[in-house]
Parts: sequence; structure tokens; C-alpha cells
Amino acid sequence: MCTQQVKMATAVLHETLHTGQKMPIIGLGTWKSAPGQVKNAVKYALGVGYRHVDCASVYGNETEVGEAIKESLCADQGLKREDVFVTSKLWNNKHHPEDVEGALKKTLEDLQLDHLDLYLIHWPYAFKRGDNIFPQNADSSLQYDYTDYKDTWKAMEKLVEKGLTKAIGLSNFNKRQIDDVLSIAAVKPAVLQVECHPYLAQNELIAHCHKNGLVFTGYSPLGSPDRSWRKPEDPVLLEEPSILEMAKKYSKSEAQILLRWQVQRRVVTIPKSVTPSRILQNLQVFDFRLTDEEMKQIGALNKNWRYIVPLVTVDGKSVARDAGHPMYPFNDAY
Ligand code: A2P
Repeated sequence: MCTQQVKMATAVLHETLHTGQKMPIIGLGTWKSAPGQVKNAVKYALGVGYRHVDCASVYGNETEVGEAIKESLCADQGLKREDVFVTSKLWNNKHHPEDVEGALKKTLEDLQLDHLDLYLIHWPYAFKRGDNIFPQNADSSLQYDYTDYKDTWKAMEKLVEKGLTKAIGLSNFNKRQIDDVLSIAAVKPAVLQVECHPYLAQNELIAHCHKNGLVFTGYSPLGSPDRSWRKPEDPVLLEEPSILEMAKKYSKSEAQILLRWQVQRRVVTIPKSVTPSRILQNLQVFDFRLTDEEMKQIGALNKNWRYIVPLVTVDGKSVARDAGHPMYPFNDAY
């Protein structure tokens, strides 16, 4: 079983970070994976050849993910810590430079690891300092903090010096904000992680990242059908007719077509699943190739549609929950 697992893992392509680290192009996403389900999902994924797990403290399940990694390393003599690329993210209530190291240490304790491969600033804007992950005012609005993400970045750089993470990066930053960080960085961001799928193709941002030496990771590659704010009128990526047609042609699933499209344009993706058959099929995207015409056809579905804009209702209207913050990233074109 061990030999077979290692063989499967080597078939998975990777992107190389500026640090020289190899990041498998498909990883297991754990956002929305409930504690109680996520442990089995991670163990199963590592068993069938995944070598990349994407985590975050705000997902509230890092303890279970940690148990799964530890048990997988113990159970399989062929699987070593250095074979698995583990990412986590700094949550918005821990942006103050004095809070950053403590936040990573908590994540490391939960994951039972002594270092991460990659640590990202989860969002460019901060919430009020403290242990409440969604601190609220009396009227239910969020309590913001205005720590500059450039100051947070300087604290992130110290984590690399201390060996607590091998690389650092950004998530949900727009082009202007990435450039801001690049302008002061002694340790360059290695990765940008943002939402990306055919309805939000992110062509300009991908080109900007690649030009500046950042690997681009797309989250919600399947359109996050399990998001809690899903509305009946939202477009459904997994039901897009051209994707269904290609799935039929290649005898693959719609999800596999969506993931293959990203692989062919060098986008790392982290599909989330807690279902063994889906976890397995999401990794089986290296044995077929979309034609140039099909790549273009999928690219033409782009309509800059974001699934991941957490909403709240104010005066009967849906508004983006964090949009009031001056560092909210999605008011810029990209
Ligand atoms: P589940 O976890 O119940 O298996 P995204 O990665 O875009 O956020 O999408 C995650 C959602 O997509 C989850 O609801 C997950 O369901 C579902 N999903 C994951 N893989 C597949 C697949 N291969 N086919 C259909 N749905 C999938």
C-alpha cells in the first residue's frame, strides 16, 4: 500500500515557490469541513496520494486536521512530514504585529507540527484584537481594527527567520495591496490565494502574480456549492452545459474538468470534500488533457462572479459583511 501511495503522489504536478519548495498543484481544502468529518477526510486524502493540505485557524478544525496528519505519518512508514505541504492562515483578529507569532504557535499546537510550509495573511483587513474571531458592536456590525497589513507582513517575516514557517504569503489581497507588500518586503510573498474558477477566471491577477514570482492558488474551484449564503438564483458552475459536455467527452466528472482547466494554466487548487469518492476523483486529473480550444471555451465563461462574499442583511438589503473596512479588497477591478 505504501509503495502504491508514493507512486500516486509522484504523479501529481507541482508549482515551485521562490523558496525552492514544491507545492502540489492539487491540495485538499478544509474550509467548511466539520470537525468529526475532516479527520477522516484528511486521512483518506493522504492515503490516496494527496500531499498538500490547506488549513486556517478560522475554520475551527485544525485540531482534527492535526490528528489526521499525525496518525497518517505514524501509520505509513513511507510518509514523512517533509512529504506533506501544509498551509495555514492568520485570522483577522491577530493582525497586530505583537499577536502574529502567538497565532501561528497556536495553529502549530493544534496541528501538532513544529513548522508550517506556508502561512498566509487570510484577509488584508483586521478585526479588533483579542480572542473573539468575529468581534461585534451592539448593532451586530463587526469591530474593525486598522493595523496596516504592511506592519503585519513585517511580523510574518520574523516567523520565517525563526523557522516556524518555510514561506509566507497573502490571501484575498488585490493587485494594489500585493504591490504594497512587495514594496516593503524583505521576504517576498511566495503565494497569493484567492477565489478562482471559470466564472472568476482572475486572468490579470494570475499574470501579475506570475510576473512577480508568486505562485497563484485558487480557492473554491468548484464554486463552493456548500456555502451557507447560497441563493437559488446563483449560477451553478457544476451544471454549466459546456462543462457537462466535456465531462461526457472525457468520461470524467464536471469537477475533474474544472480542476484540469486550472492545472493546465498553472493554478494550484484546493478543492474541499469530505466524501472519499470525491476526494479521490479530485486528484485524478493528470491522465487527460483539454485541447487549446476547450481551454479557451472554459475561459470564455468568465463573468467576474464571486461566490465568496459573506453577506449580512442591513435594512432588508444584502450587503458584503466586511465591505465597510477601508482595506476591503474587492472594490478594486482586480
Ligand atoms: P462534499 O464535501 O460533501 O464532498 P469548493 O472546493 O469549490 O469550495 O467546493 C466544495 C463543495 O463541492 C463541497 O460541497 C463538496 O462536497 C463538493 N465537491 C467536492 N468535490 C466534488 C466533486 N468531485 N463532485 C461534486 N461535488 C464536489
